[in-house]
Amino acid sequence: MAEKYLNLINGNWQEPSSAQYIENRNPADNEDLIGLFPSSSAEDVSLAVDAARKAFERWRLVPAPRRGDVIKLVGDKLAQRKDKIAFEMTREMGKVFAETRGDVQEGIDTAYYAASESRRLFGHNAPSELPDKMNLSFRVPIGVGGFITPWNFPMAIPTWKLFPALVCGNTCVFKPAELTPKTAHTLVEIIEESMKEVMGRNYIPGVINLVHGKGTIVGEAITSHPEIDLISFTGSTAVGKKINQTAGASLKRVSLELGGKNAQIVMDDADLELALDAVLWGAFGTTGQRCTATSRLILHEKIYDKFLGMLTERTSKLRLGYGNSKDVDVGPLVSREQRNNVHRYVEIGINEDKAELVTGGEFAEEGSLSKGWFYKPTIFINVKPEMRIAQEEIFGPVLAVIKIASLDDAIDVLNNTRYGLSSSIFTNNVNNAFRAVRDIKAGITYINGATIGAEAHMPFGGIKETGNGHREGGWTVYDFYTEWKAVYIDYSGKLQRAQIDNY
Ligand code: UN1
Repeated sequence: MAEKYLNLINGNWQEPSSAQYIENRNPADNEDLIGLFPSSSAEDVSLAVDAARKAFERWRLVPAPRRGDVIKLVGDKLAQRKDKIAFEMTREMGKVFAETRGDVQEGIDTAYYAASESRRLFGHNAPSELPDKMNLSFRVPIGVGGFITPWNFPMAIPTWKLFPALVCGNTCVFKPAELTPKTAHTLVEIIEESMKEVMGRNYIPGVINLVHGKGTIVGEAITSHPEIDLISFTGSTAVGKKINQTAGASLKRVSLELGGKNAQIVMDDADLELALDAVLWGAFGTTGQRCTATSRLILHEKIYDKFLGMLTERTSKLRLGYGNSKDVDVGPLVSREQRNNVHRYVEIGINEDKAELVTGGEFAEEGSLSKGWFYKPTIFINVKPEMRIAQEEIFGPVLAVIKIASLDDAIDVLNNTRYGLSSSIFTNNVNNAFRAVRDIKAGITYINGATIGAEAHMPFGGIKETGNGHREGGWTVYDFYTEWKAVYIDYSGKLQRAQIDNY
């Protein structure tokens, strides 16, 4: 019998009120049942929100550096357990062990950054327009946050949200993706453990609450709950828009990290070997399931044939398999549904777009691959910028190659989507590089680097339909998790009227 996991509400690990559970299986081997995770209901969300609301009144009074100590300890524990967590993450999500280790490392980096930020959280002072008066402004926590996270970065993305939110003094109701509940469970267990160790007899139950389950039930209950003050969501643009509508009705603060259709440009003056390594990593790393994945390759016509030859050769050599085995480059897709979606796009590419498929385009089912949701790394050529496979997010190992004749064309094509997350250009011409930095419309631009690999202390996010203007990561996310409080201190001993008495 598979192990049953529980929700964490108000410091107690408890069953969902529905008593229903969801199976979590290894996407590389469907016979491997990892565990059963709660399929919670709106009732569980309400209990979690009540607990978080109560906890907030105490947690907000804990000095920020102390809150930082909790997150520092979380970072230490993640570091100690890095390999074990990575192994289990590969088992539930599919990407290869080196990448799940990277995912945990991103969580560790985020923890240490957040812990150090707990001693900054700077405010601003400004001169008063009146004598004997002082103006200060500082950050205060907002309240209860609802956190809804995806399965592609089961550790890193929750940490991007939860750590700064906690350090700022907010309390949390966390709903992880139903495809990767185990990593979330481990993270919350570690946060709760660290909370107890650091806070000792001042431990506060309910600062972090974990409610497993479906987006349509638990996610929906979180976004519509009147006692939740802010929502942070990472996922598809379609779901993000719905969340924004629901949460907007009660004026919640909402941070949305949504889709991407990221491109790598390779100019005729680029180092082609370098550009090749980058596109393989960007397009097929994480089996293409990153919002920063390279899904379009924009090639200068002078190197088009040569580069394509190099690319198809290397792509055909990528080794598919279970990500915890040795010598595997590409793991499975996360689920049967995800594989069907990817294949549907490949069919659109062939039948509707009439692009030319040069490699891949089918399930990989040889030998033990038949036990999982494997898909062959896929490349389309003769792709026109307006085709659906060049416009819509596929979230799989599918690369659309577009030919251009100049830097201006390349940048136009790159910008011509409704998304604007990541981007990259390979060129050895410094003028091209700086023009690209100036003219590419995206939240992130890499010069001579792949579209993936953002660092934890830098602003992460995009423009257009990639989000709603917020950034995760770095110092920028602390603006999202705090309100500004302005304070005026008058030590003149008389009533001084602003705008009236000073001039
Ligand atoms: C995501 O795909 O949702 O920059 C996040 C990167 C990673 C994070 C990706 N550090 O590719």
